[in-house]
Amino acid sequence: MIKRTCSFVLTLCLLSLAALSLWAKTEDAIPYPKGYRYWAHVSSALVGPQSPGFAVNGGIHHIYANEKALEGYRTGQFPDGSALVADFLETKESAGLTTESARRRIDVMVKDSKRYAATGGWGFEQFRGDSQTERLVTAEGAAKCYACHSKQKETDAVFSKFRK
Ligand code: HEC
Repeated sequence: MIKRTCSFVLTLCLLSLAALSLWAKTEDAIPYPKGYRYWAHVSSALVGPQSPGFAVNGGIHHIYANEKALEGYRTGQFPDGSALVADFLETKESAGLTTESARRRIDVMVKDSKRYAATGGWGFEQFRGDSQTERLVTAEGAAKCYACHSKQKETDAVFSKFRK
């Protein structure tokens, strides 16, 4: 009887531990930035075949900032709640006209100085193609994103500038 109660309690413990770790994971997960196409457009860039990043980034990408992030572009310090999206699209050409084609992915940065303290207060995520659920960045992956972004010391790990 005691043995059975013990294993029952143990099972309960293990189950709640599993639930807790799942909860912690979803708590840290960056939500899909719904409506980002209506945010402020920061800048765009073309990545051509001469670029070493052509295979993964080839095409055009647009950077968008939410209201809070616009303050960051002004001051060089992005407040909590800032969100930035880089929207990567392939391009197609017809009779000299280059236009947007299929979406490769979106790259997302979200500022929460407590939750993402390990990566300069920025959470990093990518969503494949048009998917709002298919995430591409692991915890180690986020550290890699930050390793490059952190070189932008003066601008709080943000590369793009808000053109006047
Ligand atoms: C090797 C360096 C490097 C790595 C690694 C990198 N980025 Fe970037 N990222 C850049 C550069 C450069 C830009 C600016 C591109 C432009 O201006 O068109 C940028 C722009 C961005 C932006 C728009 C905001 C800004 O800083 O201008 C987001 C969002 C972003 N990256 C997310 C990510 C995510 C998520 C990862 C990891 C999966 C990542 N980046 C990895 C170099 C990097």
